[in-house]
Amino acid sequence: MDIPKAELHVHIEGTMEPEMVFELARRNDVELPYSSVAELRSRYEFSDLQSFLDIYYANMAVLRTRRDFRELTAAYLRESARQGVRHAEIFFDPQAHLARGVEMPAIVDGLSEGITEGITEGAGSGVTAELILCFLRDQSAESAMDTLRLAEPFLDRIIGVGLDSAEVGHPPSKFTEVFDRARELGLRAVAHAGEEGPAEYVREALDLLRVERVDHGIRALDDPELVDRLRREQVPLTVCPLSNVRLGSFSHLSQHTLPRLMAEGLMVTINSDDPAYFGGYAGENFSAVREHLGLTREQLRQVAANSVQASFLDRERKSALL
Ligand code: HPA
Ligand code: ZN
Repeated sequence: MDIPKAELHVHIEGTMEPEMVFELARRNDVELPYSSVAELRSRYEFSDLQSFLDIYYANMAVLRTRRDFRELTAAYLRESARQGVRHAEIFFDPQAHLARGVEMPAIVDGLSEGITEGITEGAGSGVTAELILCFLRDQSAESAMDTLRLAEPFLDRIIGVGLDSAEVGHPPSKFTEVFDRARELGLRAVAHAGEEGPAEYVREALDLLRVERVDHGIRALDDPELVDRLRREQVPLTVCPLSNVRLGSFSHLSQHTLPRLMAEGLMVTINSDDPAYFGGYAGENFSAVREHLGLTREQLRQVAANSVQASFLDRERKSALL
């Protein structure tokens, strides 16, 4: 699908294709517990979010240098631009890399260089990108605050903060203070909420973290009052259809509640989350919902326009894309 769109929910570490896992392992002398790309791929059968996160964090061990982060990001932008993505707001998980001794400058410089390279290569498509620093919610609030402090010298290259990783048992309320601090620093705010966790976490993300978008948010449908509020305030939801199926929220794409979210009048966008793990980049998520949920071309155009509206682009660039 070549409708111009913005991708608002993608984890750069989740764009590392199995081939790149092996290439970086070889280059960085990291031993992998798999003998081949095919064997690694065969492990991508997930039962829930945690079963995915276990392998997602394990594979990150191969990411060591500025060059690795640059190549990963450039490759993601190249593929996304091919699938009609004109702007991407890319999550990254610094705590996962800092824990292995990779330092913040290598991470942020590598990611930014990758964006520059991707933009230059995809010059024809005019793709642009921004970075969103995510805190790991299964780590402490203090660790999140330390991470934000380490990122302060790089804030010219970071547009906002997010919240990801294992959701249940780690409510947004745990991170109120670090989100307050991020806002003081001029950063925008988003958070994963209502992926596996309850609708109440979506409320907390809005009321306590004061997020401008909710990542996933599918569980909001359990709470009619919350649905009314999301409609009234037109809070963007960054829905990730293939991800939701692969992590077991729905048994098949045909069972996804995306059409219901749209029928409720919510501001829905379609995104890839971790495309190297879930079977598709942004364009492939669009094609899949068209095929299995019967969304019309007009509905898909609306969803793509929503993604541009819900992005952190300035008004001029938004109108150029709409
Ligand atoms: N949910 C939470 N954390 C994540 C995800 C996700 O889908 N992908 C990468 N980190
Ligand atoms: Zn996500």
